[in-house]
Parts: sequence; C-alpha cells; structure tokens
Amino acid sequence: MLEEANLGVGQVAKRCGVRVSTLHFYESLGLIKSLRNQGNQRRYMREVLRRISVIKAAQKMGVSLEEVKAAFAKLPDSRTPTKDDWQQLSRYWQKGLDQKIAYLEKLRDSLDGCIGCGCLSMKSCPIYNPEDKLGDDNSGAVLLERSTTG
Ligand code: FES
Repeated sequence: MLEEANLGVGQVAKRCGVRVSTLHFYESLGLIKSLRNQGNQRRYMREVLRRISVIKAAQKMGVSLEEVKAAFAKLPDSRTPTKDDWQQLSRYWQKGLDQKIAYLEKLRDSLDGCIGCGCLSMKSCPIYNPEDKLGDDNSGAVLLERSTTG
C-alpha cells in the first residue's frame, strides 16, 4: 500500500490549495490518513485529493468538520466519498443550508426595530424574545433563562 501512497504533504497541500498545517489538522481529526515512509515522512494515497475536495466543499456549505467526520464514518469501510456519495451528502447538507438561510432571513426581517435602537430589552427586543413567544404573559426574561439553562 505504501507504493500507492506516493504524494508528499507539500504536493497534496499545493494541489488542494490548503496549508500543510491544515492537512495535519485534518489528519488529527481523522478526516484523512497518511502512511509513513522509511524516513518517517507522511505519504498520501491519491484518493486524499478527493477527500479534501469534499471537506472543502462541505465547509463552503457551512458544514462543520465534525459533521463531515460523522458523514465519512457512515460510508462503507470509511471509503473516500464517490460521486454518488457526494451527491447524497451535498443534497443532505443543502437542506441544512436552506434551513440556516431561512432562519437568518427571518431573523434579519425581525430585527428591523433593533437597527440603531440599542435597548436590548429582554421584554421587547426580538433578539431575546423571537416571535414574541412569551408576549402574552410578559415573561421574556424567563425565556432567556430557559434557553441558557437547558
Ligand atoms: S435592540 Fe431595541 S428592540 Fe432590539
């Protein structure tokens, strides 16, 4: 297998447009693997290029490295994602991205009154009391307390 692992860390970094330290970080998280040659230098299989491409694409979609790791772990034999795998993963992650966008749009629209206000009132500011959930019983501070104490 070492014969197939013929890419050095500098080559991989250059081809993927990432720093060597990023590769070390990905490896420390278990996202990529390397082998060591007789001189104890890292050597990568060619498939690492695809893995890194998937990691970078996922990050651009707002997916955390922990989520990427969990997704990789579900692939049979922890294989490098195939084209079909990527199609499925990207569709799944796109749903999450759509949900985040919808949430942020809703938040932005609800903050019109906050722009230039500065009150940060726990009673009436939508940052603390989104959708005025406790507006009827006037207990916005209770909502904040519940959200921070679990
Ligand atoms: S800061 Fe005043 S309503 Fe949000």
